[in-house]
Amino acid sequence: MSIAEKTKWGKKYRGKLQNKIPPKIHNEWLEKWSTFPDNARILDLASGLGTNALYMASQRNNVVAIDIAEEALFALKRNALSKDLNLDLVVADLDCFFLPENYFDGVICFYYLNRNLFGEIRKSLKSGGLFIMETYLHTDENNSAVNQRYKLKQKELLLEFRDFEVLDYVEETCYGIALEDNNQLNSIAKFCGRKR
Ligand SMILES: C[S@@+](CC[C@H](N)C(=O)[O-])C[C@H]1O[C@@H](n2cnc3c(N)ncnc32)[C@H](O)[C@@H]1O
Repeated sequence: MSIAEKTKWGKKYRGKLQNKIPPKIHNEWLEKWSTFPDNARILDLASGLGTNALYMASQRNNVVAIDIAEEALFALKRNALSKDLNLDLVVADLDCFFLPENYFDGVICFYYLNRNLFGEIRKSLKSGGLFIMETYLHTDENNSAVNQRYKLKQKELLLEFRDFEVLDYVEETCYGIALEDNNQLNSIAKFCGRKR
């Protein structure tokens, strides 16, 4: 169990929830690429407060959301109930977690980078299933405070998922993107690929 991560994120979410900081709206890249038939099985890795998971549930998908921070998942449960949406929530450490084989129609992962999971993601997708990801990217242009180890290398996802059919891939740097505040210059990478 990644105790330090659990403590860090638990504290962060307790602060957010006490101060009633509203969660951001769901991700635009996800909205662009979430073209699934009804009742698709979707996995949201490191969902946090789950705005993306809720969005996917509102689109008639069967959603599983996993996160290490139970505070976030309790809040997500309350939010889902108030919207009459049903999601399966799992409190777990993704540093040591195995996914079912050939099970999901889509795996989504936003602003969480765990390279050890790439093999599990590939394994857990059905043939034809989509992997949709967006997170920080290392470039010389940005001054983001995010730790280097949580940043993708340029074209890393293209190389890692070279056995997938790439539907779209973008690298960009500007203000007002990513989870950081709007005055922060960030670089991010966005990937959507289909398992063959
Ligand atoms: C930057 S937040 C992103 C949350 C959400 N995906 C979003 O885009 O709003 C990163 C999330 O990763 C979760 N996390 C960090 N380490 C984890 C681990 N080892 N296992 C599971 N979740 C973890 C945190 O609790 C947090 O909710």
